[in-house]
Amino acid sequence: MGLVCDATPQWAQLDAHFQSWGARFDLVQAFATDAQRLEKLSQQAPYVFADLSKNWLQESTEQQLSALARACGVHTVRDAMLAGAAVNTTEERAVMHWLLRTPPDAGLLQTHPVVQAWEAPVQQALQQVHSTLDAMLALAEQVRSDERITDVVNIGIGGSHLGPEVVVQALEDWVTPGKNFHFVSNVDGHELGHVLRKVKPQSTLFLIASKSFTTAETMLNAHSARTWFLANGGTETDIQRHFVALTTNTAAAAQFGVTRTLGFWDWVGGRFSLWSAIGLPIAIAIGAEQFKNLLHGAHAMDAHFFSAPDAQNLPLRLGMLDVWNRNFCGFGSRCIAPYSHGLRRLTAYLQQLEMESNGKRVTRDGKPLQVATAPVVWGEPGTNGQHAFFQMLHQGPDVIPVEFIALRDGGKYLGAHHQSLVINAIAQAQALMVGRSGEGIERDCPGNRPSTFLLLQALDPASLGALIALYEHRVFVAGAVWGINSFDQWGVELGKKLAQSLRERQQSNDWAGVDPSTRALMQRLAESPLN
Ligand code: F6P
Repeated sequence: MGLVCDATPQWAQLDAHFQSWGARFDLVQAFATDAQRLEKLSQQAPYVFADLSKNWLQESTEQQLSALARACGVHTVRDAMLAGAAVNTTEERAVMHWLLRTPPDAGLLQTHPVVQAWEAPVQQALQQVHSTLDAMLALAEQVRSDERITDVVNIGIGGSHLGPEVVVQALEDWVTPGKNFHFVSNVDGHELGHVLRKVKPQSTLFLIASKSFTTAETMLNAHSARTWFLANGGTETDIQRHFVALTTNTAAAAQFGVTRTLGFWDWVGGRFSLWSAIGLPIAIAIGAEQFKNLLHGAHAMDAHFFSAPDAQNLPLRLGMLDVWNRNFCGFGSRCIAPYSHGLRRLTAYLQQLEMESNGKRVTRDGKPLQVATAPVVWGEPGTNGQHAFFQMLHQGPDVIPVEFIALRDGGKYLGAHHQSLVINAIAQAQALMVGRSGEGIERDCPGNRPSTFLLLQALDPASLGALIALYEHRVFVAGAVWGINSFDQWGVELGKKLAQSLRERQQSNDWAGVDPSTRALMQRLAESPLN
């Protein structure tokens, strides 16, 4: 599927292109010398306007990046993904989260040549998607109209938690009144304990969300919730009405004692699963119609990604910008600054999406990479971040690209605040670029600091769906350039295994072969006054 990225001639050309700017590319100068810069480096994609013009690149850089993408086989892997091929090579699985938002007649993808050649398994998968979606939306509507249920508690972690939590929070103004949503992920008993303090068994619906139904944290929380339910007046029969499992492992859910199960498929990666049965809390919160709008926004972005030419393909442009920033400009991190209270957990969601997907150091063929991959993704909502870490962004020695995300329409509350919020975002992007000089070395800001600005019309279901799908595809693009498998996560297994082994060793008090530091920490735990 193409050469290792840094062995391609396009990589060497981009390296030379970057070096040709000498010590620094000058953003202010770049605007001064090219009246078309903004037009060339910005675009309207479905539901999302993007301004890339305040980055250290120009039109010719993008052309070379597009050539690099082609040389690395990005388009080939993209089309293989759309054909339902097993692009998750280590787990030998197809990668079809995009199918979860594809209408039964393929919608905007109908005329795509790859879609027209779909083989039976993909067509069957699409049918299964829609029968499960119908069942999920029917269940969601049933819960919404059941006045006895006032609280929905979602127990899950990682991809079975972050997506639904982000979306329900973001769409708070769309959430049906009279229902409260709680998201429990951490194995720290305080999280579940604080929720259980507020709810009553007879008015609570527990959703046990776990693709594998084996994740230790989720299983412990689920068992504790079940025990609490039975200890507080619930019966075994009531469990059938008050617990639903969202999983691919229906056998394990049945063993746990839950018969109401919504399933999904191994071709849906955990961090790409909010569109599947894992999205049930979202559907309960916003209802079937709005859930379909969320899917529609994502589908519009899918069609754009799978069809638009490179120069107007936003996920491709952003994915290649990420490669440019990481590998040629050498930026080790990217700051996410959503200027939206609704998007306050978006960074946490993106951390999993980006760093679990692309935090890898070998290619799909097992060759060690000589180049950097996923940057550290971090950030907080604006304007809060301005009063915390923006100091470093403006004056610290490291250059950190910032990604601003803002909304044109501020929603229901206090419209005047919204103006102030968005103007702050625009001003920060401007300040990072223009800097300040002549006020003394301590006060001066070097400027020339890159940023990207994403603008949504509003925080509505369709726009949010499009934004999240944009990030999914962008992460795919960068991963495909690096030649890595963005869809597995073997790195998280070791810690899980060692935690299990330490629990067993604690029981048997057998520390043979354990390093002195780990052993001493375990012994301190045993001596804890709480034990
Ligand atoms: O440990 C990482 C991980 O496997 C994620 O990839 C996944 O989203 C999360 O754990 C939860 O897994 P599950 O849905 O199987 O409980």
